[in-house]
Amino acid sequence: MKKIQMVDLHSQYLHIKPQIDQAIQDVVDSCAFINGPAVKNFQEDLEKYLDVKHVIPCANGTDALQVSMMALGLQPGDEVITTSFTFIATAEVIALLRLTPVLVDVDPGTFNIDPKAIEKAITPKTRAIVPVHLFGQCAPMDEIMQIAGKNNLFVIEDNCQAIGADYIFADGSRKKAGTIGHVGCTSFFPSKNLGCYGDGGAVFTNDDELAKQLRVIVNHGMTVRYYHDIVGVNSRLDSIQAAVLGVKLKHLDEYASRRKAAADYYDQAFAGNPKLRTPVRYSRSTHVFHQYTLVLRDVDRKGLQDFLADRGIPAMIYYPVPLHMQKAYLDPRYKPGDFPVTEALSETVVSLPMHTELNSEQLKHITDSVLEFVNG
Ligand SMILES: Cc1ncc(COP(=O)(O)O)c(C=O)c1O
Repeated sequence: MKKIQMVDLHSQYLHIKPQIDQAIQDVVDSCAFINGPAVKNFQEDLEKYLDVKHVIPCANGTDALQVSMMALGLQPGDEVITTSFTFIATAEVIALLRLTPVLVDVDPGTFNIDPKAIEKAITPKTRAIVPVHLFGQCAPMDEIMQIAGKNNLFVIEDNCQAIGADYIFADGSRKKAGTIGHVGCTSFFPSKNLGCYGDGGAVFTNDDELAKQLRVIVNHGMTVRYYHDIVGVNSRLDSIQAAVLGVKLKHLDEYASRRKAAADYYDQAFAGNPKLRTPVRYSRSTHVFHQYTLVLRDVDRKGLQDFLADRGIPAMIYYPVPLHMQKAYLDPRYKPGDFPVTEALSETVVSLPMHTELNSEQLKHITDSVLEFVNG
């Protein structure tokens, strides 16, 4: 059996090797390494795919979040509401800009930010909400946009894990994840659903003025060459990465169906098992399965991980420590017990291998092994 990995990038590459190799070679031949035509082409292709007016490529997903908050003019002391159950980057940029992160708990089923908790957290200092579309499906954007509208708040979608997912509004209309709020941010980290071969990221918006501001900020705050009107950063998507992404974007929907097929297999194998809660599929979002995450009930998680590792199966914990319990983010406003859903999830979740190349032999080995341990 082929070695099982959390993400099998090499096998994926082999399917598209001629196109990827050619795209990279074209950039090398042109020597247009920075802001070359590959970047513009990918930007336009992604705008079409997402049906959004502006895509602003940048260096990574963390920068995408940071430049979004800068472009929206958030100021030190402004409060930004986000989820306590996410990757650290979401809170990191809030802290770096000296904004005040206000954490709220998540829905136990979908792991996404709970709109009722958002409403309770709003104060006169609140300026923005950062929902994270965790593990591949959208947060409840109808409710979030309504709360934001009522309270005059910006919405910055952290879409690093759900590119390609559709949000289905209460009226049945659809939009791509990341194109609903004032800005959407994504990461092209290699293991992401649309990943490049290094670091990469992008911001999406339908707001012309905001797009203009974002383009200036990612380029040292420069409007005319060597004239710097505002403080910016250096955050670009390399041409070689854009060339890789241009090839992979054409496969994104097919990649999502392969991930979904693997998730369906897992769901069926684990259905009805009282010790395993399979991912809840939110009715107002398609799921692109960035992760396939089980919630364990009365199962020794470390024991399961070790048992699987002995059988050549990796399994990861996303995320073992809630934001408010991370050393760098300890804050007298928060204490253990404040976010019970997040805290329980951080002790009971486990993510199984999820990628575009899982075959049925591997899936059977994974599910048989999980069931052998939990039923044993
Ligand atoms: C939810 C979330 N936000 C932000 C990021 C940051 O993206 P990057 O690693 O490209 O900086 C990631 C990915 O790592 C993520 O999963």
